[in-house]
This record gives sequence, structure tokens and C-alpha cells, in this order.
Amino acid sequence: MSEEEAAAGEPSPDDASRIAELREVLNHHIVLYYEKDDPEISDEEYDRLFAELQELEGRNPELITGDSPTQRVGAPASTSFAPVRHAVPMLSLANARTEEELTAWENRIRNHLLRRDVDPGEITFVTEPKIDGLAISLTYENGRLTKGATRGDGQVGEDVTLNIETIRTVPKQIDDAPPLIEVRGEVYLPIADFAELNQKRVDAGLPAFANPRNSAAGSIRQNDPKAAAERPLAVWSYGIGAMDGIRFASHSEEIEWLRDHGFHVNPDIAVHDSIGEVLDRCHWWLDRREDLDFEIDGVVVKIDDIGLWNELGNAGREPRWAIAWKFPPTTATTKLLEIEWNVGRTGHLVPWAKLDPVRVGGVTVSNATLHNEEDLERKDVRAGDEVVVLRAGDVIPQVISALPQKRPKGARKPVPPKECPACGTEVIKPEDSVFSICPNRSGCPGQIFQHIKHFVSRGAMDIEGLGEKQVARFLEEGLISDVADIYALRQEQLEALDRMGETSSGNLIAEIEKSREIPFPRVLYALGLIGVGSVTAEALADEFGSIDALHEADPERIEQTEGVGPVIARQIAESLADEGTWALVERLKAAGLKMELAEDERRPEGGPLEGKTVVLTGTLPDLTRDEAGAMVKRAGGKVTGSVSKKTDFVVAGESAGSKLEKAEKLGVTVLDREGLDQLIAGNLPPEPEGD
Ligand code: IVH
Repeated sequence: MSEEEAAAGEPSPDDASRIAELREVLNHHIVLYYEKDDPEISDEEYDRLFAELQELEGRNPELITGDSPTQRVGAPASTSFAPVRHAVPMLSLANARTEEELTAWENRIRNHLLRRDVDPGEITFVTEPKIDGLAISLTYENGRLTKGATRGDGQVGEDVTLNIETIRTVPKQIDDAPPLIEVRGEVYLPIADFAELNQKRVDAGLPAFANPRNSAAGSIRQNDPKAAAERPLAVWSYGIGAMDGIRFASHSEEIEWLRDHGFHVNPDIAVHDSIGEVLDRCHWWLDRREDLDFEIDGVVVKIDDIGLWNELGNAGREPRWAIAWKFPPTTATTKLLEIEWNVGRTGHLVPWAKLDPVRVGGVTVSNATLHNEEDLERKDVRAGDEVVVLRAGDVIPQVISALPQKRPKGARKPVPPKECPACGTEVIKPEDSVFSICPNRSGCPGQIFQHIKHFVSRGAMDIEGLGEKQVARFLEEGLISDVADIYALRQEQLEALDRMGETSSGNLIAEIEKSREIPFPRVLYALGLIGVGSVTAEALADEFGSIDALHEADPERIEQTEGVGPVIARQIAESLADEGTWALVERLKAAGLKMELAEDERRPEGGPLEGKTVVLTGTLPDLTRDEAGAMVKRAGGKVTGSVSKKTDFVVAGESAGSKLEKAEKLGVTVLDREGLDQLIAGNLPPEPEGD
């Protein structure tokens, strides 16, 4: 394949087959290594194969699957999605990188039309951001979302309906709909959410995703919709594929229709009368690239008149009526000067690269993360190396690889420090962790700073106006020394600080005040216990109802919470048993923070489904998964994501897949929509025999 095609994001058959081969080989060795404890190849050889796979997947994100060895740790899980043939093929786009290439495109179009005796006159163009995500197709039959599919090879994609259904920006039902309409768009992960997700992965010892696109691709193709739901994916819709009972004369009409019917359509899509205006708009987007909450890698330019689309047709797998104006890349190579270690919120020591400053995607980068010890080891990055640095939006720049062929003689492997760089305490290296840890939980200034930063952050207590710089300053000035001190701050104290006027001080005090109303699950997340991300915090709050109940629980009891394994359960119990941590919780409680669920957030006691666990799968005729879940909870039941022997009931709608099979295999009672109503009404079916 040509480089052009590779750049257009079209998977090459060669890459695809090598990827498949590498996965098979790696999976074979993973089983030998993890399950049989009997490896056949050296770690170095394994790393080499792994790096090759990572590299190929980086070039072909469409081919990333949830079961790829790069997307998980440990032994393979079997993932399979049913194939979906696209009624209208999902095409890719030709690229233009310069002004000349864009003008040449317009000339080609004109010539092509003239040869067909069509005089286009003035051509109208539409420009749209080229979202750097994964193309999807959403089929609506009589207004109801019935299928979500990936692009695949453009002809046949994969059925990822269950995962798509978990995305908030995808309407499940549309009004005034034709009998059939297939909406196309791009799934992506907002940059801020990507950063958070990666942090959690790194904390959990999983390999970091290289960029939001790879993580979106990995997420949408996970086996477990519950896991997909934990990734805050979003969709921008930009077109229409198959349709019946409706026609559009122009692309701008399509865009209007999508907007009117509740789809998320980028508000900055614009219409232009000349290629000169189009070019201005391309530069306008390039300037804004850094300020956006999502990644774009260019601008898509489309001809507005759909009549002309039909005249122009396609050249291979690319339509002649559209082109992508691509931005310059966001990777650069530079010299790694030194590797430094920073202590994180939970005491983890994180390696950092100090770089010879380099321009990447429009900004100068001089620091980049190396994630953790294992990642560092796997990538074999050393001080003095030429390294490849990637910068994606606002996300912390990262070193993705070293160029060993350019390695200076004598460059040595980095050695993780034996003492905490922030407080000097001797570190510990748990066997099951990819980090060394500073055990000085309540006294290490590095940890305290990070902990406060997490506590006030957007997904936690969300105290606007208390950013990183303010936190550092308040610590330095002795105004606070832990998170509870925030609630004792007084306006006069703030006003006494340089550059803190009456207004900003007043605003900050009001923000702090407001945060006292944050519901318990988020307070629990804000506490920053090891292994307790926002999803786990929700599950723990749901399971225990209050911090006191969680405090009293032993690890075995905590482990009964959805999504909590034995390691995290032990860590939670240990953290809360720690005197310093518990004293802090008590002070926050005294400051009025919500340390229990409000009455209406609780699962009622004595409901018909008390003590029962229900799994929902497939599409129910009149309820979304969330609505059905809320019904079960109101009746006192618990909703979980996967079927096990502990599951009491599986409610299966249309196109229920592997969960239904598993339920049948395990002999779990399966109910339909009607059965769900019976459950809620308290008419529980008899227990299956032999259980
Ligand atoms: S139009 C036939 N519009 O770019 C036209 N695609 O390289 C193809 N993409 O597979 C789709 N933003 O995944 C279109 N505003 C946009 C887009 C967009 C991102 C992706 C899409 C497509 C790839 C083609």
C-alpha cells in the first residue's frame, strides 16, 4: 500500500495479517508465562514482539481490539463481535497537506465534472473538524437505535451495539424519524477523560494508552459493555449512510437534520463559497486545535451539493467529493537528558523524562512522563537516548519509545530510587506493583500536594479557583496542610495574600461552601484511596451506603462489591484503618461533607428484590438499560455487569449475546421484559432446581 493510504487510516492487509500473527504468537507466550509458568522465549524477545505489535496498532487504530495483548494484562480473553455488512460502504478520505494540494483537488473535481458535461459553477464547500477517533455507524429503524457497528474494513464492521448503547451522546430514540436512517460519526474520548483514564490504568499497573484515539478504539471493542460504560466515550455525528423514506439535497441539510434530531454535531461546521475561504478555515482550526476538548488531526472538506456527489463518485475507497486537510503530526524526537522520579498522590514513584526542549504539535515540551517502572523497563529508555515524544491535546506529553540505534555508548539503564525524592523515606516495592512506593502516607509533602490536587479536581470536590498553583501557594504559606484545612479557610486569610482580591477570595470561599453539597460517592472518590476511582467509589457507596459502614467492613465483605477484587479490597480496608486517614475523614465529616448516601439515593430495605442480583442484557422494547437498572434498584435489587453463579436473574432483551448464553449454561433464571415487571411487582419465579 502507498504511504498515502497508510496516512489515511486505511488498514493495510499486510499490517492486518502481521497484527493477527503477532497477537496469536504473543497470546501463546502469555499463556505459557502467566498460566503455565513455563516461558519458551526470553523477556527481551517478548518485548520486541510486543513493541512491534504496539507500533503496528499505533499506525492502524481501527485494528485494535479489546483482546489484543497491548490492551490488557494477563491471559487472553476471547472477544468476538458479530459481523455487520454496511449497506452503504464506509469510505475513507484522501489527504491534502498543503494549499497547493487543496487547490489541485478543486481543479480535479472541476475537470471531472466538465468531462461529464456538468458545469458546477460556484462550488459550495462544507468544512468540519476531522475527529481523531473511530468511525461508527448507528442504525435507527422507525426511530429506535437498533444497531451500532464499527467501520471494520469499510464493507463489514463489527456489531458493538451493546457498547454503543452506553454512550450518552448517542440518542437511543429519535422523533419524526423515517423508517430507516443510518447515522455516521466518530467515537472519541474527551481529552480530560482520557488523562484520567490513563492515570487509573497506570495506577493499576496496566499499560498506558498512547492517545485518546487508541483508548476509544480499545473501549468500544471491549467484551463487556459495563467496562465500556466506565469509559466516558462521546460521539460527534457527521453524516448519513443508508436511508429509506427520506432524501437530502445537500450535506448542510444532513447536518441540520442530525442537529434537529438530537445528535451531537460540531457547532463549528461551516459553509464556504471558495477554496480560499476553506483554507482560511483550515488555519482557523489549526489555531484552535490546542484549546479543544477533543483531538482532531485535520479538517474534512466536503462538497455541499449531494447531486454532485453522485456525478463525482468514488476513486477506489475514497469519495472524490471530500478530502482531509491534515495537520502536522504531534510527535517529535529529541534527546532525553535525565530521568527523574516524582511521588504521586498514593505514594507511587513516577519516572519523568527531562528533555532537550522540542516543539511538538505547536508547543515546546521539556518534560514527559515515562508512566511507571515496568513501562520504563519495557521501553528500555535511558538517559542520553534519542526518544520519540507524543503530545496529545492537553494530556501530559509522554515518551513512547527510544531509538536504540542512536544510543550513546555507556548509556545505562535507569535504577528506581531507594528513597522518596520528596521526603527521603525509604521506599517499598510490593511484588505485585509496577511502582516503588513511599510509605510516608501522611507526612510526605509530595504526597500531600498531589492528594490535595486530586481532592479539589473536577471529578472530585470540583473546587474551581483552587488549581495546582493555588494549592502549592496555600501549602507554602501554611494556610493548609491537608484537605480538611480547606474547610477552615476564611476570606480575610485569602484577602491578605498577594494578588488575591476581595472578589476572587469571595468566589473561592463560595466554591468551597458549594462543595459541601457534593454527594457521597464523589466525596469517597475525592478521598483518593488507592484503587478507588470514580466508578469503584460509586459501587462502594451503593454497597455500603456510608463511610462508617465501609470503615467497619473487613476485606472479605468489601470484596463483595461489584468490580472490587481482593487486592483493592485489602488496600481499602488498610487505608481506612490507618489512624491518620481516618482522623482526616472525621474532620471532613465535621466540616459537613456528605459521608453517607441521602435517603433517596439508597437502595430501599425490604424491597421485593432485596439481596437479589440482576444482570440486564440486550435491548428491551421500551426501556433503556439505565431505566431498567433504576427499576431494579428501587425494588431493592442490585444490578451487576456480568453473569456468574451469584447472579439471581438475567433479564434479556433483543439481540442478547454472550451473557444470555452464559446464564443458560449456569442455569440462571432468564426473564424477558414482562418477567422484569413481575420481578418488580414481587412475583419472583421459583428457584431453579439443583441450585
Ligand atoms: S466523512 C466519505 N467527516 O476520517 C467520507 N470523516 O479518513 C468519510 N472522520 O473513516 C467520512 N471526522 O473515521 C468524515 N467530519 C468527519 C470526520 C471523519 C473524522 C474520520 C472517519 C473516517 C476517516 C477517513
